[in-house]
Amino acid sequence: MKISPVTDGIYRLSANAENILFEGLWPIPNGVSMNSYIVQGEKTAIIDGVCGWDGVPETLFSQFGEAGIDVNSIDYVVINHMEPDHSGWLEEFRCIRPDFVIVTGKKAVPMLESFYGIKNEVIEVGDGDTLDLGAGKILSFAEIPNVHWPETIATFDTDSGTLFSCDAFGSFGAISDAPYDDQLSPEQIDFFEAEAVRYYANIVAAFSTPVKKAIEKCGSLPIKIVAPGHGIVWRRDPHKIINDYRRYADYQKGPARDEITLIWGSMYGMTEKAVAPAVEALESAGAKVHVHRVPESSWGDILASVWTSTGVVLAMPTYEYKMFPPMAAVLDELGKKKVQNRKAFRFGSYGWSGGAQKELDEIIKRWKMNWEFLEPLEFKGSPGGEDIDTIRSRCRELARVVNKDGWYTPGIKKGDYCIS
Ligand code: FEO
Repeated sequence: MKISPVTDGIYRLSANAENILFEGLWPIPNGVSMNSYIVQGEKTAIIDGVCGWDGVPETLFSQFGEAGIDVNSIDYVVINHMEPDHSGWLEEFRCIRPDFVIVTGKKAVPMLESFYGIKNEVIEVGDGDTLDLGAGKILSFAEIPNVHWPETIATFDTDSGTLFSCDAFGSFGAISDAPYDDQLSPEQIDFFEAEAVRYYANIVAAFSTPVKKAIEKCGSLPIKIVAPGHGIVWRRDPHKIINDYRRYADYQKGPARDEITLIWGSMYGMTEKAVAPAVEALESAGAKVHVHRVPESSWGDILASVWTSTGVVLAMPTYEYKMFPPMAAVLDELGKKKVQNRKAFRFGSYGWSGGAQKELDEIIKRWKMNWEFLEPLEFKGSPGGEDIDTIRSRCRELARVVNKDGWYTPGIKKGDYCIS
């Protein structure tokens, strides 16, 4: 856990969480950082906190001293978002400093009581409200509901132009001694972009419309630094992560990048026999392909992959008159995240009766996913030579469709456009 100065009067405190399932659900193979920020005027505020995983928040508290900050000097605790990865330290903090004032959004107030039994010493803030810390430090607040929960607000330091955005503009990925974009190599920035995509697809994706509204609202602010609750702080190029998030939000309704994700599952190897020819056909047609097997691959990886792909190939057998269950579970999750308007193709084996295709059609309809499928191919038992030829042909066709539709405007590659 580290403390470092972000800019004049602002410190970043952070702990890495590793070897956990984020939200009790999502694998985070590269960990995640949990960030808090201290803003010092004549009065002192701490913005967000960190969950009580493994020695946190005790290590957070120990860093106050390192920064020369007396814990008793903290006047305000700003809670941007009530999810316990940010608010879960309040009970411990109350043990060492009982008389602080919480500043938070209106919808967070009843949650403070139900989560932690906190009923008083709360200032409710909404759009345009400010908190004057003295010495030129004035915090203003903006409601950004559903990024990620309905009560979420963002806090903006009008003096330095620092936006404390909590989950918005965050990423997975533990952070060592270099938490700022101006300290990182292009390769390290690429790493955090990949972690941002997975974070977005896993945690924020279902709320892509609110994300766009939040970007629009925050766009009116003179932002010089983006300081999220997870991930690196953007000082050199704060608009990069804002533009990245705008693009990720657009991926929900597609098209996304000119890439294809192939998800497959197989019981006894019948469907599997057609997977390698399908991948070979896609790649020979020039497609960039991501391959995931269910149930072995993590949902987190599959979601991130499909989120950024315009094309999807699904390969799975029928299982007890229905779809191979782990594939159905993944598709249900894609439906809940509102992954829409993909170009797709499905093939798979059956033993004595089909059923996978019927369930696939039901899932696509139930979640209003509006995926456009090439004609599916089902084969009895093992795929024959003609089946393989048909699968190859349809995969080449899918690659062609994805490439053809893979442009927003001539000369600008899908997924690479940028608004600033
Ligand atoms: Fe990082 Fe929605 O909490």
